[in-house]
Amino acid sequence: MRILVTGGAGFIGSCFVRLALENPSTEIVNIDKLTYAGNLENLVSVADRPNYSFHRVDICDREAVGKIFEDAKPDAVVHFAAESHVDRSIFSPLPVFETNLRGTFTLLETMRANRVGRFIHVSTDEVYGSLEAPLEADEKFPLEPSSPYSAAKAGSDLLALGYFKTYKMPVMVTRASNNYGPYQFPEKLIPLMISNALEDKALPVYGDGMQVRDWLYVEDHCRAIMAVLEKGRDGEIYNIGGNRSVPNRWVIEQILAITGKPASLMTTVTDRPGHDRRYALSSEKLSKETGWHPKMDFEPGLKATVDWYRANSKWVWDVKSGEYQSYYAKNYENRASELNQVRS
Ligand code: NAD
Ligand code: DAU
Repeated sequence: MRILVTGGAGFIGSCFVRLALENPSTEIVNIDKLTYAGNLENLVSVADRPNYSFHRVDICDREAVGKIFEDAKPDAVVHFAAESHVDRSIFSPLPVFETNLRGTFTLLETMRANRVGRFIHVSTDEVYGSLEAPLEADEKFPLEPSSPYSAAKAGSDLLALGYFKTYKMPVMVTRASNNYGPYQFPEKLIPLMISNALEDKALPVYGDGMQVRDWLYVEDHCRAIMAVLEKGRDGEIYNIGGNRSVPNRWVIEQILAITGKPASLMTTVTDRPGHDRRYALSSEKLSKETGWHPKMDFEPGLKATVDWYRANSKWVWDVKSGEYQSYYAKNYENRASELNQVRS
């Protein structure tokens, strides 16, 4: 099977590429723009494989995308490419609109002109918005996104599903909860807290830190996508959750315990605007139809993740140089007045 992957140099996309290439009869064509979040270092272990190729392409570039589809003639497309960070989407919504909406539109239009057997649009639980406990979103739950990021993902989900209804294109949408694991860019909660803790830097907790997220190990997410690719039904949505909903503050305390750092590093800062309080998903449909279940429990998954960041300080150093510094200053400096004022 030849799979065209978009965003395969990012956190989840690169995990999918590495896992998929464990099967020697799978061929991967990876297209990625290499934004700040795309990193070819994530793919060094597979870069020389004969069944792997990489093209630096923006998914909004209709001509370039069309040429790759025509040359590669993929059996399936797995679409990861996105501007994926909520805080950045609040500062700069335009790239989010461009990639998440226009980029998805470009891919769907290209696919309309080139027969492809399957298209998986990789989406997020954030499209359901914040849920009161004990509610859990199933795939029919209403969409109520809060940020430019999640609104654009919700829009692209509907667009993809519209192409199924109108053009009978073999589209499926997956909606996963918060991923964690190796190679995650240290702008997201878990890698940011791990790398700051390892450097004895403040761990910035937004608001009261009692927001709840459902943590999913990245390999479990990628295995779920493979299961959908193999057994999913066209036009369907599949939720993918980790079955582990916990407050941020508890996650940070676990990181402090694993890294052996003091609780005094935890620092309350101004909350994120429009911050969703709680995400919760039911992945019953996926489990029933494909037999998939998450394999990794949170505690060993978090320990493995901390170990990976400890062992890969050069990777962390490289991604934290340059642009990361200005992003970090922009996101956290205007919260700095709060730093150290409210201690846990
Ligand atoms: P990421 O930010 O780590 O990677 C995104 C990748 O897309 C990067 O390699 C980047 O270079 C590439 N990209 C961005 N704009 C592009 C463009 N215009 N053209 C081509 N490539 C482009 O993101 P991630 O965390 O790996 O997320 C991947 C997908 O999974 C996204 O669609 C995201 O919405 C979804 N998702 C993420 C999570 C999570 O917890 N990280 C959870 C659920 C769903
Ligand atoms: O739910 C799936 C989504 O999870 C994905 O669709 C997104 O691509 C991914 O970025 C993630 O979104 P979140 O906003 O939930 O993830 P983030 O890691 O940015 O934040 C997780 C929680 O931690 C959230 O409640 C905000 C909080 N937080 C985050 C950072 C970066 C902090 O308290 N301090 C921080 O410095």
